[in-house]
Amino acid sequence: MSQPNIQLIRGFKDILPGETELWQQIERTAIALFEDFGYREIRIPIMEKTELFARSIGEDTDIVEKEMYTFADRKGDQLTLRPEATASICRSYIQHKMYAQDPVRKFYTIGPMFRRERPQKGRYRQFYQIDAEIFGVAAPYADVELIFLLRTLFERLNVTDTTAHVNSLGCPVCRPRFKEALSTLLAKAASSLCSDCLRRKDRNPLRVMDCKVPGCREAMKGAPAILDYLCDDCSSHFSTVTDMLTQLGVPFNVDKQLVRGLDYYTRTAFEIQTGALGAQSAVAGGGRYDGLVGSLGGPEVPAIGFAIGFDRLAEIVALNAPATIRPPDLYIAALGEPAKKLAFEWSAALGLKGIGAAMEYGGKSLKAQMKQANRAGAGRVLIVGESELESGMVALRNMADKTQKDIPVGVIVDTLIETFSKKEQSIG
Ligand code: HAM
Repeated sequence: MSQPNIQLIRGFKDILPGETELWQQIERTAIALFEDFGYREIRIPIMEKTELFARSIGEDTDIVEKEMYTFADRKGDQLTLRPEATASICRSYIQHKMYAQDPVRKFYTIGPMFRRERPQKGRYRQFYQIDAEIFGVAAPYADVELIFLLRTLFERLNVTDTTAHVNSLGCPVCRPRFKEALSTLLAKAASSLCSDCLRRKDRNPLRVMDCKVPGCREAMKGAPAILDYLCDDCSSHFSTVTDMLTQLGVPFNVDKQLVRGLDYYTRTAFEIQTGALGAQSAVAGGGRYDGLVGSLGGPEVPAIGFAIGFDRLAEIVALNAPATIRPPDLYIAALGEPAKKLAFEWSAALGLKGIGAAMEYGGKSLKAQMKQANRAGAGRVLIVGESELESGMVALRNMADKTQKDIPVGVIVDTLIETFSKKEQSIG
């Protein structure tokens, strides 16, 4: 009896050939930019102790309350598939005492994250982030650099339909006054709040500002703006950020309602939003988290970073520029076992020289092989059968101009290497 096919887990997805070319291109563009600006790659584990995320992202957030993939391992340790990278990078920074020699460090990392959200277009349960973080810089230069990098990356990828939203979330000095004002409003609006916000409003009133439930949004319309409560230091930090962005020609909107979905933020918070995927959504988000390293047991080191939603970015890039798939440079149509063996050796030797030579491993007819070569878009086809082996000459056909030349079997690999290097030179 046949078994039913096993399908993907809901909210998870395969990234298939045809898409991976585009992902690689985005990755290469991002890595080149990061490296040019002095960021170094860090790779962190997929899993961490649950406590790390609970303490960093915040117990009252949707991520920690509802979305983490958490389980007890065989020894009963509470572990979580990482829902984001920042907490792990802080843990690593502290654990390896990276602050000791020079607290200023710039990192990037690219990889999968896991959140059990309701799947929809652009939202997955395993999704990928391109993440960058700067440790040890309290000055607004770091904030501006990161927003500038985001803009540059999007420009290089021809993603133009985006807006940068920036806000300041204050610091432990000024935020309590803002929270107090917000709590007063929330006490009055309690009857229209969702059950999550009712529960969170006293402990963590900022969470209500980030709630997407219509009743809560309505109630938040008259909410005070954090910007009006900033202390002098936060205020001057924010003005420097906006002034420098203007000076660098980076367009942005000051978005007084932007609070972000994670609790660790202080001062500058930002999002890159886009309408390209239908409903308005964030393709990247980030901000300062000056207190996080200290609160996780490290020294008081300020930090700031962002994460780009890789899946969303790839979907947007694909709208303008579908991935280009590299066709084989050469297709070897071989007939009969002796010819196939030879063709196999040739294709291996050519592959080592960076020349992609495809062939057919079964017993297909010449006609079927030529069809396959055409479908694959091979630029040249080499035809080798019994008669070619007997005569010692094989025909190399140029599929574009339909010309053909005969090459002696004994020098085939060298001749092809020469042919392709000339072709490359003439393109270059
Ligand atoms: P975040 O806003 O939670 O921030 O996520 C950053 C980006 O990841 C979002 O703007 C979105 O594009 C993408 N994203 C989030 N959830 C999903 C999902 N379920 N499916 C697809 N894409 C998603 C952070 O994660 C912070 N760690 C960013 C940061 C770094 N802050 C400071 N440093």
